[in-house]
Amino acid sequence: MTILDGKKTSNDIKNEIAEEVKKMKAKGEKVPHLAAVIVGNDGASLTYVGSKVRACERVGFESTLVKMSNTTSEIELLDKIEELNQDPEIDGFIVQLPLPKQIDEQKVLMAVDPKKDVDGFHPENFGKMALDMSTFIPATPFGILELLERYGVETDGKHTVIIGRSHIVGRPMSILMGRKGFPGNSTVTLTHSHTKNISQITTQADIIISALGVPNFLKAEMVKDDVVIIDVGITRVPDESSSKGYVITGDVDFENVSKKASFITPVPGGVGPMTIAMLLKNTLIARELHNRD
Ligand code: GUN
Repeated sequence: MTILDGKKTSNDIKNEIAEEVKKMKAKGEKVPHLAAVIVGNDGASLTYVGSKVRACERVGFESTLVKMSNTTSEIELLDKIEELNQDPEIDGFIVQLPLPKQIDEQKVLMAVDPKKDVDGFHPENFGKMALDMSTFIPATPFGILELLERYGVETDGKHTVIIGRSHIVGRPMSILMGRKGFPGNSTVTLTHSHTKNISQITTQADIIISALGVPNFLKAEMVKDDVVIIDVGITRVPDESSSKGYVITGDVDFENVSKKASFITPVPGGVGPMTIAMLLKNTLIARELHNRD
């Protein structure tokens, strides 16, 4: 069994990006600049956005954190997005999800300039991804592809089962794993809350990508020997013995499933750090794109 080490791999990627930034600086070029907008004070979202901004500093990017209150109106957020769209200093930006209920998420995603949409959530970019055109690939799916590629995990002709159809992970992953090329060329089954008898499907999977958010959902009896497991779950489970008062728990019963798996991502230290590394990668791509404008 091989651990797909997202912490190490993301560090490798960050070092590669830092080298690129050094070269840019040496040539007197502007370095990439990422902005992150967070609306409200959800603890987990604040933690994720904080990690994204710190990662920028680590590789030598410029970063801007825009904090807006929980009572921000849709218009106020759309105005801020327009300001970031127009700001020539900003190469790419993200609006952290979820948003407070008074704000229509779809309107927000549509307002982001596709050239600065380093999350890859704008319909133009999502459509390009589905049509194999060059674009920003959402950071978590991009991170999963990168892990599969760097560890040489065979995907060609394999049966990939995805659990969860979210716009951020499950849906794009189902498109990407079925694309021509490597990683890809998989036969994909996308399962979700209306799927019947999920164990019957998961026991036939060569690769399982779980993005459900139910701690320890996937048990050893639900998988076959030598399965490849990608666990995207990051649920905070209360735990008084931990200093934070919670532990981050994946969708997969790691202790027992890992005994049957050929490759498996741990939680934490698997997909999570990869998401941040690939957001940086997308921001670097955005900078290069703007250089050519
Ligand atoms: N919320 C959870 N994951 C993500 C992500 O990748 N991007 C944004 N903007 N919000 C998220």
